[in-house]
Amino acid sequence: MIPAENNIKFRQIAEKLRQKGKIRVLFVCLGNICRSPAAEGVLQAIVDEHDDAARWTIDSAGTGNYHIGDLPDRRMRVHARHRGLELTHRCRQITPSDFEDFDLIIGMDAQNLRNLHNMAPSPQAEDKIMAMADFFSIATRYDYVPDPYYSGAEGFELVLDLLEDACSGLLETLTSSNPDS
Ligand code: 4NP
Repeated sequence: MIPAENNIKFRQIAEKLRQKGKIRVLFVCLGNICRSPAAEGVLQAIVDEHDDAARWTIDSAGTGNYHIGDLPDRRMRVHARHRGLELTHRCRQITPSDFEDFDLIIGMDAQNLRNLHNMAPSPQAEDKIMAMADFFSIATRYDYVPDPYYSGAEGFELVLDLLEDACSGLLETLTSSNPDS
């Protein structure tokens, strides 16, 4: 579901990406060990399934610097593995050059989005920022991806459910010939 205020911006991005053919997406959360590396793994698996990997560059980063160089959180790796995903990303912190190197920069929650807007080096860079919730389907009862770090198993399962939903929506909307259909 694309909120009304993002509709025009989203259509402009989708059109630009369709013309360019290539799509570079960076997922961003706080620690880059739970939500964003899982989003990276989920979207990569979906584009692989659609035989569309050649068009996509998919990466993730954190706004924080607590876990640089680490694999994703062990709990997230275990839950992802149960869904057939091996998460091998190494944690890194977002840098100003990411706003050049990616077409879309997708934050998981309001704090991530505030941090991204604060660090964006230009208005054009800010235009690349979107919320993961912009891609949720209509059935989703959340408007952000909650931080699972202090949760139990159900928090990690919820994150993976939301990410699978949003990544399907992202692929469908960015690659459909008519974004209004
Ligand atoms: P993430 O979760 O932002 O989804 O990677 C977190 C991981 C680590 C911390 C916070 C959130 N931390 O405070 O170390």
